[in-house]
Amino acid sequence: MRHFLEIDDLEVEELQLVLQLSVATKPQRVLDGQGVALIFEKPSGRTRNSMEMAVVQLGGHPMYIKPDELGIDSRETAEDVVRVMAGYHRILAARVFDHGRLERMAAADAMPIVNLLSDLAHPMQALADLLTIEQAIGLAKVGKVAYVGDANNVWRSLAIGCSMLGIETSVASPAGHKPTELDLDRVLSSGGSVQVTDDPREAVEGADVVYTDVWTSMGQEGEKSERLDAFSGFTVDTSLMEVASASSIFMHCLPAHRGEEVTDEVIESPQSRVFLQAHNRMHSARGLLSWISGEVSKNDQ
Ligand code: CP
Ligand code: NVA
Repeated sequence: MRHFLEIDDLEVEELQLVLQLSVATKPQRVLDGQGVALIFEKPSGRTRNSMEMAVVQLGGHPMYIKPDELGIDSRETAEDVVRVMAGYHRILAARVFDHGRLERMAAADAMPIVNLLSDLAHPMQALADLLTIEQAIGLAKVGKVAYVGDANNVWRSLAIGCSMLGIETSVASPAGHKPTELDLDRVLSSGGSVQVTDDPREAVEGADVVYTDVWTSMGQEGEKSERLDAFSGFTVDTSLMEVASASSIFMHCLPAHRGEEVTDEVIESPQSRVFLQAHNRMHSARGLLSWISGEVSKNDQ
C-alpha cells in the first residue's frame, strides 16, 4: 500500500513519472466510477478545487467531507474512519493540523492516504512547484532555488523535492523560524545540499527561483503579531529580487499576504509565476492520482 504524506514517499524515478503524468495530453480515466474522499480540517481554495477537478478528469467522483461530519477522533477514531471509507473510495486525501493523524490513517493500511497539507508538509504543492520550475526554467537547468521566510510545511516539501532532483537550495529565516536539525537531515538524506542563513540577500544571491510563503500559517493566527516582528526584513521586494539572477522567477504557493512576505510590485512583476503555479496544482494532482491509482491496481492483481 503506497501513501503520499511527504514528497520523498516517492522514489526519484516515481517523482519523475508523476511529473510526466501531470502533462500527459490524454490522461487515462484510471478513476472511472470510483470515489476519492477529500477531507479538509482547514480552509482551502487551490487544493480543494484542483483535487476535485483532477479526480473528475480521471473519470472519478470527488467527495468533499467536512471534518465535523466525520468527527475524526471524536465521533470515531481516525483508523476506523479510514477502514470505513476504504469500502466506498479508492483514495483518501486529507488536510489536517497534526501530521501524526495522517500517519495513523496510513498505518490503518486500508487505502492510500494523500496529504493535502499538514503542519509538517505540503507535498501536493511541491509537485506543482517542481512542474512550474520545469516549465519556466527546466529542472535540469535550474541553479539555486532560494526560499525566504518561515521554514514551514511548504518550505520542507519543496526543499526535499529539490534535493531529490539534485537542485541546490538556500533558506533564509529569522531565529526561531529556521529549519530544525531533523528537517535538514531529511532534506540532506535525499542527496542534495541546502544553504541555511538568516540573511535574505545571501540566500537569494544568484538564485534562479525566489520563493516565499506566509509568515503566519493556518492555525498560527494567535502568533501573528510576534511573527510580524520576527520576520521584519524578510519581505521579498524589488531590491531583494535584484540580487537574484537577471532571469530569475518569483514563486509563492498562495494565498499571499501582500505587503508582508511579498510586495505587490514583485507578485505582479513579469518575473512572477504564482498563477502558473496555482494552475499547475490541478495538473500535478492529476499526475499524482494517476500514479497512486496505478499502485492500487498493482495491489489488486
Ligand atoms: N497553496 C494552497 O494549498 O492553497 P489553498 O490553501 O488555498 O488550498
Ligand atoms: N504555510 C501555509 C500554506 C498555505 C497553503 C499554511 O500552512 O497555512
